[in-house]
Amino acid sequence: RHPGWPARLGPLVVAGGTLELRPPRLRDAGAWSSARQRDRAHLEPWEPSSYGQGWDERNSLLAWPPQWATLRSLGRRGLALPFTIVLDGRLAGQVTVGNIQRGALRSGWIGYWVSSELTRGGVATAAVALVVDHSFGPAGLHRLEATVRPENEPSLRVLDKLGFRREGLYERYLDVGGIWRDHLSLAFTEEELGAGAVARLVRRGLARIP
Ligand code: ACO
Repeated sequence: RHPGWPARLGPLVVAGGTLELRPPRLRDAGAWSSARQRDRAHLEPWEPSSYGQGWDERNSLLAWPPQWATLRSLGRRGLALPFTIVLDGRLAGQVTVGNIQRGALRSGWIGYWVSSELTRGGVATAAVALVVDHSFGPAGLHRLEATVRPENEPSLRVLDKLGFRREGLYERYLDVGGIWRDHLSLAFTEEELGAGAVARLVRRGLARIP
C-alpha cells in the first residue's frame, strides 16, 4: 500500500452544500458522462486536446471504465491521488493529484473540475483544500504544482484563495484545442501549510466541519 491511498476526505460544508471526496467508482459512469457531455463549453477550453476522439466520444459512458481503471491503477501504484467530488450525495466533479514523484522530489500536479451548475459555491476551493492537507499529511508529499491558463480566472481565484504562489509562465506549454497555450505555474510547499488549508478556510468562514 502507498501512503495516503485509498482515502476518503471530508465532509466539509460550504455555501454550495456538503462535500466529500472518495476514490472514483466504476458506477460513477452515468453521472460522470452526463455532467461532462452537458458541460463541454465549460470544460473544453481548459483541458488538453485528445486527438482522434471528439468530446462526446471521449466523455461517453463507455469512456469511463478505461479511465476509471487507469485512475485506480495509478492510485494503487502511488502515482496519483484521484478523487471524485460528491456534493450532497451527487457527483459534482473531480480532483486529481497526478505524476507523483517520490524520493528527493515528493511532488505532483493538481487538477480539478466542477459541474457548471454547482460552481461559485466554494466547492472547488474546499475540495482542493482537503487534497492539499491530505497530500502533505498522509500522502507524504512536499510540493504541489498547478498549471493554469492566464485566462482561467475562476481557477486562478481558487488557487489564490488557498495561497498557491505564482512561480512563472510556461510559454506554449499545453495543446488545448489544437493551439499551444501558455500556462501560469503555481505551487505550494509543505512549509506554507501552517495549521492546514482546511483550517484556514474554516477560520475565514468559507467552510465548516459538520
Ligand atoms: N471571473 C473571475 N472570478 C470568477 C469568475 C469569473 N468569470 N467566475 C467565478 N469566479 C470566482 C468565484 O467568484 C469564486 O471566487 P470567490 O469565492 O472569491 O467569490 C472563484 O472564482 C471560484 O471558487 P469556487 O466556488 O471554490 O470554485 P468552483 O466550485 O466554482 O470551481 C472551477 C471552480 C473548478 C475552476 C470551475 O469553474 C471549473 O470546473 N471550470 C472548468 C474546468 C477548469 O477550468 N478546471 C481547472 C483547470 S486548471 C487546473 O486544474 C489546475
